[in-house]
Amino acid sequence: MDGILSFLSAELRADDTRKIGNIARANLYSRGIHGGMVTRHIISIGDFDRRQIDRLLDNAKRIDAQKYDKNALVGKILATLFFEPSTRTRMSFEAAMARLGGTSISVGSVEACSIAKGETLADTIRVVSGYADAIVIRHPKEGAARLAAQFASVPVINAGDGAGQHPSQTLLDLYTIRQSMKLDGISIALIGDLRYGRTAHSLASALSLYHAKLHTISPKGLELPTSLNTELSEKGMEITEHEDFRDVIKEVDVIYVTRIQRERFPDSASYFNVASSYRITPELLAGAKKHAIVLHPLPRVDEIDPRVDILPHAKYFEQSKNGVPVRMAMLLQVMQ
Ligand code: NCD
Repeated sequence: MDGILSFLSAELRADDTRKIGNIARANLYSRGIHGGMVTRHIISIGDFDRRQIDRLLDNAKRIDAQKYDKNALVGKILATLFFEPSTRTRMSFEAAMARLGGTSISVGSVEACSIAKGETLADTIRVVSGYADAIVIRHPKEGAARLAAQFASVPVINAGDGAGQHPSQTLLDLYTIRQSMKLDGISIALIGDLRYGRTAHSLASALSLYHAKLHTISPKGLELPTSLNTELSEKGMEITEHEDFRDVIKEVDVIYVTRIQRERFPDSASYFNVASSYRITPELLAGAKKHAIVLHPLPRVDEIDPRVDILPHAKYFEQSKNGVPVRMAMLLQVMQ
């Protein structure tokens, strides 16, 4: 790979910060350099330190309170490239763009674009960079967003790369938790498919910055990847594995439920072995702390009984709604 496409470290130097001009917008991203211009990408939650996350969440809060310039992104175009299904992520990015006065374009489905004719992701990204001011990409392959960033001359935001990362989801998860409690020192249960669930990976990483205590509960074979577990433990995060959610229900502040990622299983038999192996019910939640909240990135299949929806613990629909102000803050950060 030649110099111009190579990646710089996520660390920003002080002179780069000055160049970008506004400290609130700087020092946040994985960066590439194209034609001498710094391009800011959001690929992994590890691209952020705690101060940067807090600042972005503060910006989202101001936006939520309607304190933002409705014309901030007039004339700007966002390209959404979704090579996997999406309802919330894609629509909330598009809604966020519209609220800021900008426009979104997309290819529709993979079948409808030239990837189906054999075009490489690199070429697609180079081309789309010429049409838009930022690209949001979701792809079934882990690492695809980082690859896209290497070939893009505009900022790339990772909207989920296989079983890798989902940083925008994590930011809205943190935002939602912060609406109910301080992030510092929370005790959280991560339940479900922690092997393939990218939202769980990004969230666990982010929470290591907030001294959270992590309880993992997953069906056999779907545990948090060992590499991530080791990395977080080395950062000082307290992680305990449990077979049964009932072991921790009394002590957790946040119950984060995830879907079994059926599409990432090698065959349907191995999926059916673990499908429906856990379910959050009102009866179970009767043993939870009064202020405990239940989150889910959605879509849910049958992990949360619909009777939970009316309980004060249930915050997952508010969580998905928070996708708009949080993604507005992200778009402002990369495009303004
Ligand atoms: C998640 C995803 O795509 O990783 N969905 C989302 O973006 N809200 C979770 C999932 O699909 O289970």
